Amino acid sequence: MDGLCYGGDYNPEQWPEEVWHEDVALMREAGVTLVTVGVFSWSSLEPSPGRFTFGWLDRVLDLLAAGGIKVNLATPTASPPPWFGLAHHDALPVTAGGTRLTHGSRDTYCVCAPPYREASVRVARALAERYRDHPALAMWHVHNEYGTWCHCDHVAAAFRDWLRARHGSLDALNDAWTTAFWSQSYADWDEIAPPRATQYLPNPAQSLDFRRFLSDATLDHYRAQKAVLRELTPDVPVTTNFVFGSWVPVNNWEWAGEVDLVAIDHYPDDRERAAEQTAFAADLARAWAGGRPWLLMEQAAGIVYTGTRMRAKRPGEIALHTVQHVARGSRGAMFFQWRASRGGSELWHGGMVPHAGPDSRIFREIRDLGRLLPRLAEVEGGVLADVAILWDPESWWALEAPGLPSQEARYLDALHQAHRVLWHGGVTAGFAHPSGELSPYRVVLVPSLYLVSDATARALTAYVEQGGTLVVSFFSGVADEHARVRLGGHPGALRDLLGIRVEEFLPLDEPVTIRPHGDDGPPTINGSIWSERVELRGATALASYEGGDLDGLPAITRHRHGAGRAFYVSTRLDDDAYTAVLAAAGVPAEPVPAGVELVRRSGDGVNWLFALNHTAAEQEIAVTGTDLVTGASADDALRLAPGGFAVVRTRDVVVQPAITGYACGARGSATASQEDVKRREQ
Ligand code: GAL
Repeated sequence: MDGLCYGGDYNPEQWPEEVWHEDVALMREAGVTLVTVGVFSWSSLEPSPGRFTFGWLDRVLDLLAAGGIKVNLATPTASPPPWFGLAHHDALPVTAGGTRLTHGSRDTYCVCAPPYREASVRVARALAERYRDHPALAMWHVHNEYGTWCHCDHVAAAFRDWLRARHGSLDALNDAWTTAFWSQSYADWDEIAPPRATQYLPNPAQSLDFRRFLSDATLDHYRAQKAVLRELTPDVPVTTNFVFGSWVPVNNWEWAGEVDLVAIDHYPDDRERAAEQTAFAADLARAWAGGRPWLLMEQAAGIVYTGTRMRAKRPGEIALHTVQHVARGSRGAMFFQWRASRGGSELWHGGMVPHAGPDSRIFREIRDLGRLLPRLAEVEGGVLADVAILWDPESWWALEAPGLPSQEARYLDALHQAHRVLWHGGVTAGFAHPSGELSPYRVVLVPSLYLVSDATARALTAYVEQGGTLVVSFFSGVADEHARVRLGGHPGALRDLLGIRVEEFLPLDEPVTIRPHGDDGPPTINGSIWSERVELRGATALASYEGGDLDGLPAITRHRHGAGRAFYVSTRLDDDAYTAVLAAAGVPAEPVPAGVELVRRSGDGVNWLFALNHTAAEQEIAVTGTDLVTGASADDALRLAPGGFAVVRTRDVVVQPAITGYACGARGSATASQEDVKRREQ
C-alpha cells in the first residue's frame, strides 16, 4: 500500500447490515485506508463443521472495495466456534493444574491438537480460495496474538519429539536438565511430560525448554496457515499481530523472520508512563523488523482495560502515541476496534467510533489523525540509534523460574530501566539479540542477561575487542543455555571480558551505600535488591560498597579489553546513578528539555526530526526546516504546544550514522549494516 495504513479491527458481524453502510461512510470521512476483517468471525463463517457461509463477508468486502478501503483479512483461528470444542474435546487447552478449559471466552484451543490444526488450515484455505482475487484483499492477518498455553497429552507428545530433536539422546537431556537432582532421571522418553503442576519447585531447565518448545509449536501452527495462503495468494503479504507480555510464550526474534511485515499490538497500562512504554514497544518492533517498516496493528482509541480498571486516553494522546510509533518506523496506525461493541466481553473497550457515535471527541480526534497521517507518509529511512539494549527472551524466561536468589531481580524490570534511562536522557535506543550483529552500535547495554551461551560470550568479547563499549548489569552471564550455573566464579561467561571475578551474590533487604571514586558526581549513591562480592582481575573500580559485608569492595567496574571497554554494575542502581554510569560509558544525556522526545530519521539526502512534547507546558527545540504537521517553517527554533508534536523535514547536521539494519533473529538472519559515522551537512 502507498502511504501509511490507517484503520482498525472491523467486526461487522456484530452489527446489522445497515450499520455497515454508515461504517464505510464514516471510514471515508476519517481517512481510513485499511481494516482488519474477520479476526473473531469463525462461528459466522463456519456455523457448523465444513458448512461455510461467506455471503455476509462477500458483501462486506464488496462494500469496502467500493469505498476504496483495503482489507487485512484475518483467519479466525483465535476463537474456535462452540461446535468445535464439543466435537473435539481433546483440542481444548489444559492448564498446568490439569483443568481442561471450555469454550466461552476466546483462545480455547491447543496448537498441537490434530483436529484444531486441520480445522485451522481448512478455514484458512476456504478464505483464500474465496477471496484470492478480491480487489480489497491487501494482506493476510493470521490468527490473533498467538500465546495460548496447553499442557495436554498432544502437547506432551509434541514436546517429546521436540526434545529428541534438541537433545538427541536421553543422556544429553538428563545432563542438560540436571535430572540427577531430586531423582528426576528419565529412562524413557515417554516418562517426560510438560511442566504440569507439581509438589514443590519445578525443574528450571524443563520449564525453560517448555517455553522454547511452545514458541516453536505455536509458530508451526502459524506456518501451516501461511503455507496455504502463500500457495493460493503468492503476492499477498502474510502477518500476525505480536503482543508482548509475560504470558506470551513466543520468541518474537524468531517469529519476525516468518512474517512479511512485523505487526505489534500495544496497550500502555500505566497512564503516567504511557509515552515511555510506547517508545519501548515501538523500539522493540523496529528491532524485530530488522530496520524494515513495521505496523502498529492495534492500539486503543479510548478507554482500555488494563487488568484492574479502565483507563481513558487523555485528549490528544491518540495522535501523540501514534506519532511516537510512526517516528520509530511504523507504516501507519491501526486500532482495536473500529466500532465499540454494544455487548460481549469487551463492550467497554474503546472504539474509533465510540458508543456515543461520531459526534464525539474521540471520533473527531480519529478524523483529525486520518487527515494528519498522509502528511507524514514521506518519512522513510533508518531511525538514528547507535546505542542498543540486549534483549533475550530466553534469559527472561529463565529468570522467571522460582528458586532464584531473589525474586526481585526481574529481567523485565532491568530491561525497562535500561530503556527508560535512555529515553529520559533523550537517547533513542535500539534492541539487539545476543546472537545478532552488534557492530553498528557504539554502546550496548546488557541488563541481567542470566543465560549466556559460549557463542554469545564470544560475540560480546569480539564486540568489545573491536572497540565497542558494553555496560553489563548484575546477575548476567552466570548460567549456560540449559540454566546451569557456570562454575569457578561469576559471571562465568563474562569474567575475562569484564576483568572481574564474583565469588558470591548477596541479595539485599535494605539499600546499600556505594561511594563513587573520583571528584565529579554525588558523594554516595544507593544500590538495592542485589549486591555481589566482586574481586578485580584487571578491571578498575569506579565505585565501591561502603559499610556492611562488602565494605570497600568494588561495586561498579570498568575494564579495557582490546580496543573497547566493558563496564560492570553489580547492584541495582536508581535511574540517576545508572544515567551517570552511561555517561561514563560515553552515552551522555541529550540536551533536550525533560519530557521532550526527539527521534531522528534519515533517508536519501533528507532528514526528519520527530519532536514530541509529553509535558503540560510549551517547549522549544532548536531546529530549522519544515514542519510536516502544520506546514510552517522553523528557523532555528520551534515551539511545541503542551502535548504537541512536530515532524520537521530538516537539513540540519546529522551526527550519527543511519543504522538501517538491526540484529534480527536468534537464527542468524542479522541484516545489520555498518555505515561510517559521517557528518552530513547540506
Ligand atoms: C488485544 C486483542 C484484541 C482486543 C484488545 C483489547 O490484545 O488482540 O482482540 O482484545 O486486546 O485491548
